[in-house]
Amino acid sequence: MSMKRALERLEALGREAGLGGGEERIRAQHDRGKLSARERIDLLLDEESFVELDRFVTHRSTEFGLESKKILGDGVITGYGTIEGRLVHVYSQDFTVFGGSLSEAHAEKIVKLQDMALRTGAPVIGLNDSGGARIQEGVVSLGGYADIFLRNTLSSGVVPQISVIMGPCAGGAVYSPAITDFVYMVRGTSFMFVTGPGVVKTVTHEDIDMEGLGGADVHAETSGVAHFAHDNEAESLAAVRELLRYIPQNNSELAPAGPDHDPHDRRSQKLLELIPDNPNRPYDILDVIREVVDDADFYEVHAGFARNLVTGFAHLGGHAVGIVANQPAVLAGVLDIDSSDKGARFVRFCDAFNIPLVVFEDVPGFLPGVGQEHGGVIRHGAKLLYAFCEATVPKVTVITRKAYGGAYDVMNSKHIRGDMNLAWPAAEIAVMGPKGAVEVLFHKEIAASDDPRAATEARMEEYRERFAHPYVAAARGYVDDVIDPRDTRPRLINALDMLAGKRDANPPKKHGNIPL
Ligand code: HXC
Repeated sequence: MSMKRALERLEALGREAGLGGGEERIRAQHDRGKLSARERIDLLLDEESFVELDRFVTHRSTEFGLESKKILGDGVITGYGTIEGRLVHVYSQDFTVFGGSLSEAHAEKIVKLQDMALRTGAPVIGLNDSGGARIQEGVVSLGGYADIFLRNTLSSGVVPQISVIMGPCAGGAVYSPAITDFVYMVRGTSFMFVTGPGVVKTVTHEDIDMEGLGGADVHAETSGVAHFAHDNEAESLAAVRELLRYIPQNNSELAPAGPDHDPHDRRSQKLLELIPDNPNRPYDILDVIREVVDDADFYEVHAGFARNLVTGFAHLGGHAVGIVANQPAVLAGVLDIDSSDKGARFVRFCDAFNIPLVVFEDVPGFLPGVGQEHGGVIRHGAKLLYAFCEATVPKVTVITRKAYGGAYDVMNSKHIRGDMNLAWPAAEIAVMGPKGAVEVLFHKEIAASDDPRAATEARMEEYRERFAHPYVAAARGYVDDVIDPRDTRPRLINALDMLAGKRDANPPKKHGNIPL
């Protein structure tokens, strides 16, 4: 064949591959408020940076007349490109081709990309829009999923993996996103469930629609399966671009430095005013975080789930950091089952990817209750404890107010290798709060007194004087310093600068046995 004809053929096939399931199906996709698989890639990546691979791959099935229905690319677009100039590997499932369902060939394309990402040490971003296993291919397609799950697992902690759910995601297919580090969902058009509403109705007689069973808000607020929920696809994709500002390419690199315009020595008068004098009054820890970090820029992760603990990324003096903070404005900032899970997973991501941890602590303890105990608050709380103990990245804590009970130990205390533990001067660090302590220690004395109320108050005042301050801990070196809250930002940046070359390791082992 002449070069001219060969080029014409290449161009024609390229055009065909570019259309996926065809213009009519792309229109149908738009009519549902969804973008096409290619439009999504264009929004995600730097302009003209995408390089597509395997666009001429087709399925091999001959079942149900499929041999005459070959579509170039077989329902998934794979390749690589850049975000702010940094390499990422991307796959984007094309719902216009057999509902984006996963065939043997479709799976092979994703697996090839995952293997490439491990070799290049760059993040993998999956844009998921799929009817699940290609029914006509049976077990071969299930095998394809397992091949992907294996790579998800082997890549975990080596390169960041990000899943954006942009359509249906059902059955075992949900387990690939579930293994990845961050899951984004879009309200109204993306769904995740192991069994859909129809099966639920048959088995449990519960009547529920797709959104109610596995929509974005359900997973971002109730189940915790999704870390982010957005109103449309463009917002989700922009948020993924933003996330990459805070994370490294792989586990042997550091995250890129932030813009670093905000003065390192900026003191904050506002921090003195944020915390109420009454230790039982709530305040919003997000106000504290924004006041301290560079340019008040906080990228919150899992914002809608277990809101009594705040997790997210920021820069401090240009250092990318992962922030974990008790939230006194929700449930008084107690730790419970969901917040422990949320915190543990976040801490482990940061530790795997060399992102220093900054903890703001104001915690009255673990949440009491039959539901929590029977739900395994011991097992779940242990995850957060384990995650902080195991982490070897720079670890800095600021106790802003309460640090009571086991939660004091858990929240990156000195004893579990906190590198720099600071306390504000009104901090209360003790086994429990004054009221609980007095009830345990002096209940007989109080019962026998003429004025139980006054006796309780007197004992509480005595307890506060003796224990409800940071100086017992400071006398033992459990906090490294008690600081003026106004100096929090300069002191944190100074600590992070000092710890930039930190080296620490855990004993050699195959892997630990985190209480799951
Ligand atoms: C083959 C599929 C398909 C599938 C959809 N299609 N899912 N083809 N295998 N799994 C095709 C449809 O036949 C249709 O083709 C086109 O994609 C669009 O599908 P529609 O049904 O018209 O679209 P919609 O009404 O939007 O419904 C989307 C849907 C529904 C909710 C995803 O298609 C659906 O329920 N599909 C089956 C979902 C499922 O049960 N999958 C298996 C899950 S179990 P035409 O040519 O007619 O337009 C699983 C196991 C994974 O995935 C195991 C891992 C361990």
